[in-house]
Amino acid sequence: MISQKYAKNVRSFPIEDIRQRIVGVSVKVPLLDGTRRPYVNFDNAATAPALWDVMETIDLFMPWYSSIHRGKGFKSEISSQAYDRAREIVGRFFGADPAEQVVIFGKNSTEAINKAARRIGLTRDDVVLVSLMEHHSNDLPWREQAQTVHIGLAADGSLDMADVARKFAEHAGRVRLLAISGASNVTGFINPIHELAALAHANQALILVDAAQLAPHRAIDMRPAADPGHLDFLVASGHKMYAPFGAGVLIGPRAIFAHGAPDYAGGGTVEIVTEDDVYWASPPDRDEAGSPNVIGAVAMAAACKALAEIGMERLAEHEARLTAHALRELGQIAGVELYGDADPARAGERLGVIPFNLRGVSHYLLAAILGAEYGIGVRNGCFCAHPYVLHLLDIPDPVAWSWRKQVVAGFRAHLPGLVRLSFGCYNTEEEIDWLAAALRKIARGEILGNYVQDPASGAFHETAFHPDWNGYFKI
Ligand code: ALA
Repeated sequence: MISQKYAKNVRSFPIEDIRQRIVGVSVKVPLLDGTRRPYVNFDNAATAPALWDVMETIDLFMPWYSSIHRGKGFKSEISSQAYDRAREIVGRFFGADPAEQVVIFGKNSTEAINKAARRIGLTRDDVVLVSLMEHHSNDLPWREQAQTVHIGLAADGSLDMADVARKFAEHAGRVRLLAISGASNVTGFINPIHELAALAHANQALILVDAAQLAPHRAIDMRPAADPGHLDFLVASGHKMYAPFGAGVLIGPRAIFAHGAPDYAGGGTVEIVTEDDVYWASPPDRDEAGSPNVIGAVAMAAACKALAEIGMERLAEHEARLTAHALRELGQIAGVELYGDADPARAGERLGVIPFNLRGVSHYLLAAILGAEYGIGVRNGCFCAHPYVLHLLDIPDPVAWSWRKQVVAGFRAHLPGLVRLSFGCYNTEEEIDWLAAALRKIARGEILGNYVQDPASGAFHETAFHPDWNGYFKI
């Protein structure tokens, strides 16, 4: 039930009306020419806006919000129940088996992967397979714990499945884990996670799926342990699933988290503490040190419920339409170079994450123009996936080395990169048309502003664009 307060913002089901469920969807932003227009958010892969469903749940919960699992007051009871229920809902959303698997709340996917890396019990002799398309968050944490081996890619940036098998064979008997993204945050390629899981299990390895990007776009089923394609670990972030408030999740085998010391020790993680000894609590408490983020967990559960209610298949269909439309439109603009899979016919097989460049225009500058002159929000750069972007741009090693030296010297002005569109469930074809019109003008050199670059960050700023930031929001 949607309360009166939010009823005007929510018209529910048909996919065309999804926009009504999104907070701030019609907010207008100032443009360089002095006008204002509705913001076009094409940066959902970084952070998605909130669902009204989430805001309403939090609003209803706030009066009851209190300490959990620590107090016996009425509000503590309600808050504890809400937190436990949130765990159930999120676990169910991903098809986790509560008897075998535990849902551990944390702050985001990055933290979840760091926890997994420290808690699986890896040794320096173990091999963890990751791919060259990984976000740094699913690469760097493993390097600290084990020998990390990178699976190669095809020229378009998709996973080289033959190389997965090859790497398992090369490191036979030593691979403990395959840690792989469900979908790329740069190209939107979707990896065949269940096929990869079956391959990992056939090689006596476990699989962890970084679902930070996949979870808001596709239904995910971890599947029962008896299924060779089951997923052992899964991580996801609330803020990419239309649920801000700072929660993320790590789901994994209960048995693994029932052993050893947690990565963070402290209140809530223990059964008994003596002056010189400690008896750790059972999962998930052992791995949720300190007062948990109850609001974040409830928000994430509310988002899972709303997404399930809307229907992930319908979201995927809508996104495929948007992606095909964008690829067709951008593909016709002289100077636009698309990376990854640029074929609109395959739009349904990948996420609506589209990296591109406009010949002759720096990615830093293009993002700044789109923001200041068209009210379009995109991300540019390397998207926390440096090896992947170098691969997509086909940058030879010596050139990459010269850029690395520049970064270390504090100079980013000429760093290579891409501009990224990433769609949410509420974006429209009209918004894509607005972007395409903008790109056509920019490609023709029709740029209104005067942009200067900060060499330390690489970012461009328009010299006369001084909106009244505080007039829009001030804390
Ligand atoms: N991982 C997020 C992105 O790709 C932050 O933008």
